Amino acid sequence: MEKTGKLFGVGVGPGDPELITIKAVRIIKGADIIFTAASTKNTYSLAVEIASPYISSTATIEKLSFPMTKDARETEAAWTRNAKKIAVFLKQGKNAVFLTLGDPTTYSTFGYILKKMDCVMPEADIETIPGITSFHAASARLNRILVEGEESLLITSGAYGGQRIRNIDGVENVAVVKAYKNIKDINKALKETGLNNRCVAVSKCGRENEEIIKDFNKLEKRAPDYWTLILASK
Ligand SMILES: C[S@@+](CC[C@H](N)C(=O)[O-])C[C@H]1O[C@@H](n2cnc3c(N)ncnc32)[C@H](O)[C@@H]1O
Repeated sequence: MEKTGKLFGVGVGPGDPELITIKAVRIIKGADIIFTAASTKNTYSLAVEIASPYISSTATIEKLSFPMTKDARETEAAWTRNAKKIAVFLKQGKNAVFLTLGDPTTYSTFGYILKKMDCVMPEADIETIPGITSFHAASARLNRILVEGEESLLITSGAYGGQRIRNIDGVENVAVVKAYKNIKDINKALKETGLNNRCVAVSKCGRENEEIIKDFNKLEKRAPDYWTLILASK
């Protein structure tokens, strides 16, 4: 029987092309096919741009569509379709890389691929290669300690506002990704929980047009960029 290929979920870091690991580079170089996520609205892939110096000239690049919709049936169908596409290549003995920005286990489309590969090709050989997350890059950029001593850190999505922040108790630090929507409610929740003592927003960390925003009243007045996160501490 022909040997099947291996799937690697590879994190390429938050955007700074130097924040990619040596292991990620080695695996990208050896890939026969590179997959990455594309939305129906946007086919540009920053992950591919970061990886491009290392992608073999003989490798194929394929963008997989992940529709941005709340229709669960549509999203599940797209994830299954994408997993099936990957399985075709693995069964041909090809090594595939699924690129993600930051880390593949952190708010990443690779999670959906992993779930569906389990149904579509349960025998698939899969390895996850970690990447530097956006909030680790931002704390480093600010020379700011993310968490220390006996403290805790909540990593949460701000996509639905500040409710998650209000629901936690005894957490001294929070990293809010997807802080581009509902910034007013996030800001309100940070104030209510005393997490506004040291809060800062970082947009496009390590990339062109990077911004560090400390004035949250100003941040509220403008629509923050999609690539915005917040670090806040008591
Ligand atoms: C879908 S999540 C992806 C998280 C990513 N997998 C990680 O490990 O950081 C997208 C969110 O990550 C944050 N993000 C990713 N890259 C960023 C960057 N360079 N600067 C600031 N925030 C970033 C933003 O909050 C954005 O809305």
